[in-house]
Amino acid sequence: MYSLNTYLTGIVLMSSMNQAQAQAHTSLPYFADWPKIVSVVKKTQEIEDAVKNLVEKMTLEEKVGQMIQPDLREVTPEEAEHYKLGSILNGGGAWPNGNKYATAKDWAKESDKYYLALERAYAGRGFRVPFAWATDAVHGHNNVFKATLFPHNIGLGATNNPNLIERIGAATALEIATTGLDWTFAPTVAVPRDYRWGRVYEGYSEDPEITYNYASRMVRGLQGELEKGLASDKVISTVKHWLGDGGTEMGVDRGENHYSEENLINIHAPGYFSALTAGAQVVMTSFNSWHNEKNYNVIGNDGYNYKLHGSKYIVNDVLKDQMGFDGIVVTDWNGHSEISGCTSGNCPQAVLAGNDVFMVTARKDWQTFYTNVITQVEAGIIPMSRIDDAVTRILRVKMRAGLWDKPQPSLREHAGKESILGANDHRALAREAVRQSLVLLKNNDNTLPLKSTDAFLVVGSGSNDIQKQTGGWSLTWQGDENEIDRDFPGATTVLSAVQNLVGETQVFTDPDTAPEGSIAVVVMGEDPYAEMMGDIKRSKTLEYSNLKRSYAADLALLKTLKTKGFKTVTVFFSGRPLYTSEEIMLSDAFVAAWLPGTEGGGITDVLFNESGYDF
Ligand code: GLC
Repeated sequence: MYSLNTYLTGIVLMSSMNQAQAQAHTSLPYFADWPKIVSVVKKTQEIEDAVKNLVEKMTLEEKVGQMIQPDLREVTPEEAEHYKLGSILNGGGAWPNGNKYATAKDWAKESDKYYLALERAYAGRGFRVPFAWATDAVHGHNNVFKATLFPHNIGLGATNNPNLIERIGAATALEIATTGLDWTFAPTVAVPRDYRWGRVYEGYSEDPEITYNYASRMVRGLQGELEKGLASDKVISTVKHWLGDGGTEMGVDRGENHYSEENLINIHAPGYFSALTAGAQVVMTSFNSWHNEKNYNVIGNDGYNYKLHGSKYIVNDVLKDQMGFDGIVVTDWNGHSEISGCTSGNCPQAVLAGNDVFMVTARKDWQTFYTNVITQVEAGIIPMSRIDDAVTRILRVKMRAGLWDKPQPSLREHAGKESILGANDHRALAREAVRQSLVLLKNNDNTLPLKSTDAFLVVGSGSNDIQKQTGGWSLTWQGDENEIDRDFPGATTVLSAVQNLVGETQVFTDPDTAPEGSIAVVVMGEDPYAEMMGDIKRSKTLEYSNLKRSYAADLALLKTLKTKGFKTVTVFFSGRPLYTSEEIMLSDAFVAAWLPGTEGGGITDVLFNESGYDF
């Protein structure tokens, strides 16, 4: 019979062992509470004084202008001048003048228009507040024609190689700088815990340790040593989405997160602790809700729906006060409007919760929101101290980015250098990442490595489909409406990669004409999607062949090939693990290739392993 004392000691030992045990298994420490972040980017007296001086001079209108971030398609340079806007973003599929094929110079020239508009706006004020442009570099500078498309984050997670992440961040930052933009909404440090979620592939891993080890490296790749200033080939990074986007019930995008605070901290937040320590300057608030009594309603009325955009506890009390984050909190795409009682044009709750920049994308909404915030400050609903906190943070980050010292975008060091977009060394880095991302799930009788002396039948829904390879966030938001030659010049599908390697005469695409003994390479996978468009509804399962009729065709093809006696290697493109038991059983070898991007050669590098590239 244990004495009470022994029993309690046992509990203490067990819990300490659990913590020690937890630490023994991963480099990820256990966080008993929200940690104080000590960023490598420290406050300097010079910047703090300069910011304070500006905030004291700025009118309420000028301050609120800094807090508004419309979408490129919904704001003209003249409007940016009139409202004295602090920044704009280009959402997925938004290009200068609606031109999908805009060149680096076109992007930089468009950025000039807004930059110079703001210079005009502050002319005669005795001070200036330079403009900034933010973009989504989800896997390379993916909105931009000819940019290198790296594997999506889920594939990078499979490489388990933090050094690679920093190198990819650096290449991506350089391509962003080439287009004259200042700020990217990356890295995503979501920890996806339900494969039904349409954004699983934007996370590095369901394992918070991988995300923790990667986040700081991506930030350093994108920002460089920001504590010494933002180099001309670096950009401001953003960690997102704060907080718990990967832990919603049933994986519903923008859904309900019901995690305990301890698990929210230790499963969904480690990427932030890592990224913010490495100096990330922006955090993007998440669409999902967090159902916990500590997530109080900032204006007190009942019916609060626990949306993170309205959570003063998580956005202000935890991130800003307890963790000490001194950068910018930016809302997600009209995310404020999903708070109970809010609309896109009216949401004091989101301001009071601690968001600093508001991504209010449509013209009528951002102009209404601007007017309403001014009215709400004048009415005392929003205290001026909240506005000053937001503007202080915005100016602080812009000064850390050296915006006052940079020339207009098109005159910056790397601006307009077309050859940097999709540069050979960037493509080679992407190909290296593809190689390292591949996961071998089966290889019976040493089917792999393949021999280039053999004949090949290359078939399946993904064999020559660049969209299945790139996934979402590729020139367009959904990664659709793209064709390889027109939209991804220089890209390589698996079919063309095999043809490049063994010669076109040895490659067949029709099972009925392929010579006896050909090896079948079956390439299949998910059609592209982004965000909620990729959610697997509760009426479905994770069974690949049952998700779409076209996916069932891949299974039928494997059955036919089996009947015809082909030896089969299957390559599977997906934004998440799916049930492919039957397909694996029908294959002699099976490779999970995630969403590899444009460099399909990385796949044949490993399938043939002629240069020492193995799984
Ligand atoms: C989207 C995404 C976010 C992205 C933003 C701007 O809805 O949630 O990740 O950065 O809007 O495109």
